[in-house]
Amino acid sequence: MLSIKANMNVLIINGPNLNLLGKRERSIYGDRSFEDYLADLRKIYANVDISYFQSNIEGELINKIHECGYQIDGIILNAGAYTHTSLAISDAIAAVTSPVIEVHISNVFKRESIRHHSFVSPVCMGSIAGFGLDSYRLAIEALVKK
Ligand code: DQA
Repeated sequence: MLSIKANMNVLIINGPNLNLLGKRERSIYGDRSFEDYLADLRKIYANVDISYFQSNIEGELINKIHECGYQIDGIILNAGAYTHTSLAISDAIAAVTSPVIEVHISNVFKRESIRHHSFVSPVCMGSIAGFGLDSYRLAIEALVKK
């Protein structure tokens, strides 16, 4: 039986348009806001310090990865559409020492081919996609059991 490490610090970073969860393309992304879901996540993992950052701006996502990526126990990153375009975010992940898990709410491989390529996958510890908001919980699970 694997035990959960106490006092872990995990940062969830959401990229562009993910501030609209609950309102945005609900048939794909569901009808819950991220803040609502996050409250549940914090209850489930009461012994994990879960911080949260969202930005629609590529450079702000990179700055956050730089700021936290040398001391935090893990970063869970949903880079949104930047996943498929951003070499700069990929370089930021490669530069830091904290493990980063790539997360997607939708199964990107079932969708348009432009969403099949990820710039971040090769520099992440692993990737989780297609489980709705539960993808984030699965990522925390992977970090706490690491
Ligand atoms: C997404 C998938 C991306 O292709 C898309 O651009 C998003 C959300 C997801 O969580 O399923 O914004 O990252």
